[in-house]
Amino acid sequence: MCFWPRHRLRLSGWANLQILANDFTKLWQDCQDDYIAAVAAVGASGWYILGREVSGFEDALSAYCVSPFSVGCANGMDALEIALRVLGIGPGDKVLTTPLSAFATGLAILRAGAEPVYCDVDEHGALDPDAAAKALDSMNGIRAIIPVHLYGHMADIAALSAVADQYNVPIIEDAAQAIGASRNGVRVGAQGRIACFSFYPTKNLGVVGDGGALIVSDEQQATAARALRNYGQTEKYVHDTIGLNSRLDELHAATLNHVFLPKLDGWLTARRRIARAYLDGITNPNVSLLPGPDHDGSVWHLFPVLVKADRRDNFLAHLQADGIQVGLHYPILISDQRAMTDRGSPLVSGSLEQARQFATQEASLPIHPYLTDDEIGHVISSVNKWAG
Ligand SMILES: Cc1ncc(COP(=O)(O)O)c(C=O)c1O
Repeated sequence: MCFWPRHRLRLSGWANLQILANDFTKLWQDCQDDYIAAVAAVGASGWYILGREVSGFEDALSAYCVSPFSVGCANGMDALEIALRVLGIGPGDKVLTTPLSAFATGLAILRAGAEPVYCDVDEHGALDPDAAAKALDSMNGIRAIIPVHLYGHMADIAALSAVADQYNVPIIEDAAQAIGASRNGVRVGAQGRIACFSFYPTKNLGVVGDGGALIVSDEQQATAARALRNYGQTEKYVHDTIGLNSRLDELHAATLNHVFLPKLDGWLTARRRIARAYLDGITNPNVSLLPGPDHDGSVWHLFPVLVKADRRDNFLAHLQADGIQVGLHYPILISDQRAMTDRGSPLVSGSLEQARQFATQEASLPIHPYLTDDEIGHVISSVNKWAG
């Protein structure tokens, strides 16, 4: 969720080079003609909210995700809140999730009126099915599980589904970082699960602004989500529930549908190619690679590596001196954030040891689809020459 200042660094050899985590100016150069045409068409249509662009994009998203229903909304966090509320989860309920995510994951649970319960992650950084099983076994009142497909790698949905089925709780997939991902052939949102997406600019499918959506397989859920995003309105002037104002704009829907979504598969291929180059090219023994559970199924939203916690600042400074921007995902666990601890002790099941290791050791290398081969090579050689 971070933007970095575009200040130029002084570099030897790579004078004035800056390899950005996300290069929005290159994206704009690539997309601007189609973008402006899409915006002009919406402007000329005279219809700006919940019109045919939103429903057209929802249809396209459903087709892309092979899901019967899509509902656009204002952002990924709202998509999670709406998903929880569609399932009837609210005050008095607990929702099991990972502490290693964007703050929005935990915040959406609170916004729905429920209480997050955090348990540990696995070796890929996603909710650990064994830890989830222990949490469900030891704590009453858990009504849903929200795994996060962190870094664009799908969480172990097969194992989590087995746990969820045993305790009869639904899974809502936080797929903000993972549109288009799969694991061992199982897609995001398959088998009737609700999945939530963010179109925040840094995401693999981003807009020039904010946007989000959820996919659902049940028509009643889709109808409920459509009402919730629009003040809880079930028909004109009729409000049966307390909803949000969380509409996806016609403008964003049009640019998603006509400009960005058609490019998504090409972008994902580029991300996988860069990930492969890093995995093959980075040989520094002081840098641990995280190949993910399924290279071709992953959409490589980020390229995380692990370094010793007490050397991470040095690693960041080394790369920065070479003109390379590095992100941290995420340095503070959600359960440790003051906004959470100020409310009282967060509910934690088991130890969060693995999540804490990610928080202190992880660094994300640039992997956006506009990286050139020279830039990819420069990142690899810079990482390899780090003394550790
Ligand atoms: C894993 C995860 N969940 C939820 C969100 C929230 O999405 P948004 O910023 O669109 O509300 C994000 C985005 O930052 C995210 O990365």
